[in-house]
Amino acid sequence: MKVITMMIGILTVSVVFWVCLCQANVPAPAADQNIGLWDRSFNNMSASDCKGCHGDNVVDLHHQLINSKGLFCTTCHKMDCSSGSCLFVPFRDCFQCHSQIAGQASVHHLGQAAQNGDCVSCHGELVQNRDDGHYIPAYDASLVSPRPSAGTGVNGKGACDYCHSWGNDWGTSKLVYANKEAHHDTGMGQDYGKCVWCHDSQAETGLKIRACEQCHAPQSLHNIQIDTNNDGKIVPGGELSYRGHIGSNEDCLGCHGGAADQISIGGSSGGWSLYNPTRHHLLVQQKGKKCLDCHSLYRNLKGLFVFKDFRTCSNCHKYGGRRP
Ligand code: HEC
Ligand code: HEC
Ligand code: HEC
Ligand code: HEC
Ligand code: HEC
Ligand code: HEC
Ligand code: HEC
Ligand code: HEC
Ligand code: HEC
Ligand code: HEC
Repeated sequence: MKVITMMIGILTVSVVFWVCLCQANVPAPAADQNIGLWDRSFNNMSASDCKGCHGDNVVDLHHQLINSKGLFCTTCHKMDCSSGSCLFVPFRDCFQCHSQIAGQASVHHLGQAAQNGDCVSCHGELVQNRDDGHYIPAYDASLVSPRPSAGTGVNGKGACDYCHSWGNDWGTSKLVYANKEAHHDTGMGQDYGKCVWCHDSQAETGLKIRACEQCHAPQSLHNIQIDTNNDGKIVPGGELSYRGHIGSNEDCLGCHGGAADQISIGGSSGGWSLYNPTRHHLLVQQKGKKCLDCHSLYRNLKGLFVFKDFRTCSNCHKYGGRRP
């Protein structure tokens, strides 16, 4: 837990190399890699890769488990007496005792915590666990519903892979993998018992994202953001684009700005019969409204960004008319 929290530690980032991507038709850059783990496959590691993260000296790391987990010397140090004289079975090669399936499954995800679905124990609050009872919306798909991939907006806007696709990181130009490979190559993309952890083959296209929300629900997604101007605070809508999820209106549109084809869902011919969310969301195209013009984010008592109530008409329409 501690190790990863350190790695997750949101680094402050210099903005010197920032290039403006404000123009509408430029595709999004590959997602930056300052938050969380590098988006790649980790299932073909050597012992020296292991030491790259766990340190060169893993002796203490193991020996402290004698006390903390009540292990015996012989749990790890086995004797082999088959040749007549007894020798210690080699105990320096990580793969003697830890397993990966090269090219298929990584050592961490073959472990018990991952197999139990407890992703949060290592990945922290960047994700949520499938069985923790968190909020996942149940309303119909609409004009602003995100998709896992293949967004229907300009250049594929309106889906995770609009940003989390193959590419090179801005800062280091190291290769960033697409989110499909990053997930499947943990090993869970080979395990047919686990497909439903991330996919719902029965869901209609506009609602496929709900399966992803088992771990990436609104609460975690709207809290992933870097402080881009180093002023010590994150201002939703007041940061540079493409450095997280709530920094600018462009970021909102990255996930929510596709699905124009879903316009008819929940609404009919127009006018007063329009589905109320649709009525408001049409104003994005018609009047250039920004998401945050209507949906404000504030920090709750736990320090997490949440949305102010956007269902009560009088919260915004104070005088009873069409104008707020
Ligand atoms: C990218 C960095 C990284 C690499 C490379 C890496 N690890 Fe880890 N490992 C971690 C982190 C972070 C954790 C979680 C730490 C914690 O919970 O304290 C972890 C946890 C573990 C655990 C505990 C698992 C559990 O279920 O609690 C084992 C065992 C382990 N690693 C072995 C290895 C081995 C063997 C290798 C090489 C094949 C390796 N690691 C490579 C970062 C890494
Ligand atoms: C959880 C597994 C585990 C347990 C339990 C364990 N060891 Fe180890 N031990 C290791 C590993 C792994 C290494 C080798 C690490 C390396 O060299 O990278 C090691 C290394 C050693 C070494 C060589 C030290 C060195 O500096 O290279 C000795 C001696 C040793 N163990 C003795 C013991 C004794 C005695 C006990 C019981 C009191 C014990 N170990 C319990 C895993 C364990
Ligand atoms: C001789 C067997 C053996 C070898 C070799 C070995 N380990 Fe382990 N390791 C264990 C056992 C057993 C555990 C405890 C698993 C458990 O908690 O059930 C463990 C636990 C760990 C943990 C988790 C520690 C914690 O605090 O929970 C890490 C990280 C780890 N090993 C990394 C490595 C790395 C990296 C190497 C190679 C440099 C390595 N191990 C080699 C047997 C070994
Ligand atoms: C024991 C700690 C541990 C647990 C539990 C764990 N992970 Fe990981 N995860 C890691 C480590 C360390 C890495 C980087 C190295 C690797 O992949 O083995 C990683 C990498 C990943 C990546 C690729 C990195 C990225 O940013 O795209 C994905 C996806 C992922 N894990 C998904 C999951 C899912 C889903 C679960 C829960 C079902 C889970 N993990 C549980 C430790 C863990
Ligand atoms: C507008 C571009 C954009 C879109 C669209 C987008 N993201 Fe991100 N995402 C980012 C950026 C930028 C980061 C921060 C990268 C960094 O600095 O580490 C990030 C980070 C993350 C992280 C934490 C760090 C990591 O790399 O693992 C998760 C989890 C994540 N995004 C999930 C999603 C999911 C799920 C979707 C689709 C519902 C999505 N993102 C869509 C830009 C985007
Ligand atoms: C840990 C999460 C995870 C698990 C488990 C998982 N996948 Fe995926 N899968 C993804 C992600 C992320 C993508 C890319 C986004 C998308 O298109 O849905 C993806 C994409 C796909 C795609 C391409 C979807 C498309 O529309 O192009 C197929 C097919 C697929 N997965 C099949 C499977 C199968 C079969 C299993 C079980 C053996 C499985 N996945 C398990 C996360 C997962
Ligand atoms: C079982 C939990 C789980 C489910 C379900 C899940 N993910 Fe993830 N996802 C993770 C974890 C864990 C990470 C790694 C976070 C980190 O970097 O520490 C991750 C990272 C991501 C990221 C950012 C890094 C990357 O790999 O690109 C994206 C985008 C993403 N997921 C998309 C999806 C999509 C799309 C789906 C549905 C098809 C999905 N996820 C389903 C656990 C899950
Ligand atoms: C990483 C992708 C992503 C980004 C970026 C993002 N959202 Fe979301 N948002 C989602 C997902 C997924 C949902 C759940 C949608 C569903 O299931 O229908 C959601 C739900 C919402 C909801 C409804 C919450 C509820 O209580 O049901 C609002 C309002 C919202 N987003 C506004 C925004 C605004 C404003 C921004 C920009 C500041 C933004 N979103 C950025 C993915 C994202
Ligand atoms: C002009 C104000 C306005 C703007 C601009 C706006 N919204 Fe909304 N949005 C609303 C209202 C009002 C509702 C709730 C309507 C109701 O339930 O009666 C809503 C509902 C939602 C919902 C829940 C959908 C549902 O079907 O219940 C999501 C998700 C959402 N908005 C996201 C966004 C995103 C993302 C943007 C930017 C693309 C955006 N909104 C722009 C006013 C607005
Ligand atoms: C989150 C704030 C918010 C909430 C809640 C909200 N509205 Fe609105 N509504 C707006 C804004 C902002 C406008 C756009 C005003 C403008 O044109 O500048 C608007 C415009 C409208 C319009 C005119 C649409 C058009 O096409 O010009 C109607 C009708 C309307 N709202 C009805 C409602 C009703 C009925 C409810 C409750 C069920 C509601 N609104 C809840 C913010 C909100």
